[in-house]
This record gives sequence, C-alpha cells and structure tokens, in this order.
Amino acid sequence: MAKKIGITETVLRDAHQSLLATRMPLEDMLPILDKMDKVGYHSIECWGGATFDSCLRFLDEDPWERLRVLKKNLPNTKLQMLFRGQNMLGYRHYADDVLEYFVQKSVANGIDIIRIFDALNDIRNLDTAIRAAKKEGAHAQVAISYTTGEIFTTEYYVNYAKAIESAGADSICLKDMAALLTPYETEKLVKAIKAETNLPIQLHTHYTSGLASMCMMKGVEAGIDVIDTAMSPLALGTSHAPTESMVAAFKDTEFDTGLDLVLLTEIREYFMKLRQKYIESGLIDPKMLAVDANALIYQVPGGMLSNLLSQLKQAGKEDKLTEVLLEVPRVRKDAGHLPLVTPTSQIVGTQAVFNVITGERYKTVTKEFKGVVRGEYGRTPVPIDPEFRKKIIGDAEPIDCRPADLIKPELDTIRKECAEWIEQEEDVLSYAQFGQVAVKFFEKRRNKKYGVDGKHSDKEKQVHPV
Ligand code: CO
Repeated sequence: MAKKIGITETVLRDAHQSLLATRMPLEDMLPILDKMDKVGYHSIECWGGATFDSCLRFLDEDPWERLRVLKKNLPNTKLQMLFRGQNMLGYRHYADDVLEYFVQKSVANGIDIIRIFDALNDIRNLDTAIRAAKKEGAHAQVAISYTTGEIFTTEYYVNYAKAIESAGADSICLKDMAALLTPYETEKLVKAIKAETNLPIQLHTHYTSGLASMCMMKGVEAGIDVIDTAMSPLALGTSHAPTESMVAAFKDTEFDTGLDLVLLTEIREYFMKLRQKYIESGLIDPKMLAVDANALIYQVPGGMLSNLLSQLKQAGKEDKLTEVLLEVPRVRKDAGHLPLVTPTSQIVGTQAVFNVITGERYKTVTKEFKGVVRGEYGRTPVPIDPEFRKKIIGDAEPIDCRPADLIKPELDTIRKECAEWIEQEEDVLSYAQFGQVAVKFFEKRRNKKYGVDGKHSDKEKQVHPV
C-alpha cells in the first residue's frame, strides 16, 4: 500500500534561524501565507525555538501577536513549534505551573503540534510538557537529541524512544541539530526504533555537512513518516534539504508526498526575492550556504562553531580555535557525555574556551557548568565521576531528582513582578522567559501606543515613573 510522506515546512522558523539568525519579520511572511496554506503540508513550523527571543529582542514584535496572525492566515495548515522542555523557550528550568500556562496559551493562540526536546535526553524533563500538550489537545511530539560518541549506540536511542512512547508522546522526532547523521546511520537507527515502537517518526536534520537529502531518502525507505524541509531559496547550507527537491525525489513512488510542484515553484519565486534582499542587506552570509564537513570532524553544531570563534575573538585569542575544538569533547566527557544543543552547547563551549584561555583546565568554572555538574539540568547520559564533581562543586549537594521538583510554583510571583506592563495575559509568559528584554519591548510598545518617539523612552520613564 502506498505510504504518503508528510512534509513539515521549516522556512518560517528553523530555516531562517539557521541562515539569518532568526531575523525574518512577520511582514516578510504575510504576502505568501495564502499560497502556503494551499500546499497541503503536514505542518508548517513557524514558532518557538529562537523566534520568540528574536521577536522581543531584535524585531520589536510581539511573538504572541505573530502567532495569532499566522494562525489567521494559515487556517488549513497545522502550525508547529519547537519547545525546549522544562526550559520552555528560555535558558533555565521553570516551575511546572509556568510551563503548563505557557503550553495552554501557545495552543490557545494557534499551535497544533509541539515538538519538545531536552538537551540531556532526560525524559523526566519532558513529562510535564507532554502532559500539558495533551491536556490542551495538541499533538505532543518528542524529539531525540541526536549526538555521537561511544555511549550513543543504537540501543541508547531505542531505549530513549521506548521511554518517549511510554511517556505518552504522539510521535517521535529524530533531531539531528548538528548535522551529524549519515545516510546509513539514519537507516540503521530508524529501522531499530521502528521495530521497537509504534509511533510515527519524523526526521529533522541540517544540510551543513551536505548529507541531509541522502539521510532523508534512506530514512524514508527505512520507515520515516514525515520529513522537515525548507523552501529552496532558504534551504541548503546550515538550513535543511530543499522542499521542492524532496517532493520531486519521492514523486510517483510509494512515498509520494502528493504536493504540487507547480504551486511550490510559485512560492519559491517569492522566497527567492527575500533571499536576494537578505543577501544584499548582509543578513545572509553566503558562507552559511556552503557545505562544511567540519561538523563531521569536530562533532559540534554549526552555531556552536561560530559562537566559539566569536568568544575567542573577543578575548583576542582567535589562534586558539583548534585547541578549543579539541577541548570541547574532553569537557563534554567530563560533564557526562552531554549532547550539544541549546543550552548545553553554550555551556560546554564556554567552559572549553575558559579551560584553554586561562591555561589551566577548570581554573575558572562558569555558574552554568557547575549547574550541569550538580544536576540542575537533569540526569546526564553517563553519571559524572564523583571526584570530578567534588572538584567542580565542592561540598554542594548534588541533585538527582527531576530539577523542576525543586522549583516552587512561580507564576504568581512572576505576574506580580511585571504587573505594570501587562496588556494581555501572554505578556506574563514573555516576561517569565526574557525578563528585562521583555520589559524593554513592553516599554517600546507603550511608547508607540502613546506616540512617544522610542529614543526618548528613558526620559519619559524618569519624568513619569510607572
Ligand atoms: Co534544527
């Protein structure tokens, strides 16, 4: 029997997060939404990840309003978001009451599918999010953060997939954020997970190392149900396999996606103009569009590589990049073989930079690295050596329960803290995750409303304290 492969279109989220630092504003999306809604995508990924942060910090957009407008203009397509489990879209663990409220509001404003992941693959960090998504009637997809290393065997992934199924997820995503998957590894993993679980599987990988479309093909042959792609003008490089190419590849086979290539080509025209605009304005660095097999050698996500380089530049130690890249796997091993994805990629990367530039390993230890070693982010894939732990956190009590169990309900406190700025309930959640960045946005929003020029906002605040 023919099996139809679904396509999740990522051009409104991960594609521009990967190629232009998440800077696509809503106004660049609006003109094409009507056409995109006619394609028949399995879903359009358009929210979560870094979009929320970018809206508040750089684009002066209310992320909630963006979601409502997208929903209104894409009435026939399921909207999908990326969600960092107990971290939500922020960088720390939140109490369950905040997380439940966030999920409730995300679904109420238009999200249909929530892709949830944990950087440590600790299923306890996903339980509340899965339960909340299901309670709100959303599809709860749980992503396996894929990484490589001696302990990350097929068995490791199959066991995690089984735990995801037992936790009540509706589907599994194999999430290869660092473009480390190879075609045959994909085939092996998908077959093994399919054999041991009954959930649909979606494949998410990046084009960075040039292997994504081959991984998609071997994955689909092995049983993948849905693939993540991006419209070709914002595909390739650090983004995804091109939607049109994947649709063409499976056309008239048992895996036919059923999507109309002619309609997709019309949509391509639009994004081609955007691509040109972004290249001219410097938002897209053509370097990002090239294949870079360094990811396969150093086993770090592309974004992490550029972060390391900029941290070293700031310290005037650009010549130390190779040393840092050799230090990353050592730090990662010390910290219990963490997968490298937000926020662990930043934590391990920064610690590796300190270890190299201070000339002595762990002479300076960041607060976040101490947090990981103590167990504040959850259970690491391999237990941390007690002696190493003592060296890093001294006599501080290690945490072995689910970290969020130690966080008291905090929604009311957060609401009180930002009370003066609340114009809609959702503002509480923007503030919960982005604190002062959200306040700056609220302030600009208020000034705009009362016709105050943004640059006088500080003065305004002094004259009329609110
Ligand atoms: Co991605």
